[in-house]
Amino acid sequence: MRDTDSLSPAQVDKIRRQLVSALASPAITHGLARTFRAALKEIELYKNHWTSRRQYPHGVTDLATSRIQIGGGNHRIAGFLNIDLVPPADLIWDVREGIPLADGTAEFVFSEHFLEHIDYPRSAKLFAREVHRILAPEGQVVTGVPDARFVLRGYLNGDQELFAEMLSRWYANRDCLDDFNTYLDLVNYVFRDQDDSAKYSPHYWAYDYDKLVNLFIEARFSRVEPWTFDPAIANPKRAWGSLYVIATK
Ligand SMILES: C[S@@+](CC[C@H](N)C(=O)[O-])C[C@H]1O[C@@H](n2cnc3c(N)ncnc32)[C@H](O)[C@@H]1O
Repeated sequence: MRDTDSLSPAQVDKIRRQLVSALASPAITHGLARTFRAALKEIELYKNHWTSRRQYPHGVTDLATSRIQIGGGNHRIAGFLNIDLVPPADLIWDVREGIPLADGTAEFVFSEHFLEHIDYPRSAKLFAREVHRILAPEGQVVTGVPDARFVLRGYLNGDQELFAEMLSRWYANRDCLDDFNTYLDLVNYVFRDQDDSAKYSPHYWAYDYDKLVNLFIEARFSRVEPWTFDPAIANPKRAWGSLYVIATK
């Protein structure tokens, strides 16, 4: 795709202004308002993405790096190229559009609590294929996600202590906690967090070990194994309740 194929900033701003104006209308319905808020969020991400994308007309950056973190947010890792939709990344990029690095140039890719934030199957499978493409032979990717089996085991066991701990660790800052009355509310959040707030990005899909193995093997990785949590790389607050795998090209 050429950068001239992008929607022009003027076009995007026009749509944004129309959405903002419609949201201010007293006639707007709840459903339409939710959809427009989500669209406004995507417009911001689109603008961020294309601000970077225009610097790289062929969609491939010239950034020399062999260690990459994707979706690190504020958890930047020194010595890595940190790619994310939003600052403070080294490269602002929407990974649903691919990974802007040349084939076989990376040695190691790391991502945690990112995969569940992109849609499955289209974007999650593209992510796995793109990581495989940019890795050198024997290169590795570590992926961490909220552990769906851990959450469901607690639900089936009626584990109220686990419920309380998850709420306080994962959702203490949300303004919707008054509505978290049962363990199933928590399961819903972990599997399909659709908080109607600009602050939080939704969860689109839940993963267990088998699903991660399946995702990476389908993308032609040769093996996938459990990864032992290493706080030198991973965000220490993810040590609890997460599942990590390491896939080798
Ligand atoms: C829940 S945060 C996790 C941040 C960090 N990895 C951690 O564990 O603390 C999810 C991160 O993924 C990023 N993200 C979500 N969708 C993305 C996309 N399509 N492309 C790049 N980054 C994305 C978000 O901006 C956010 O920083």
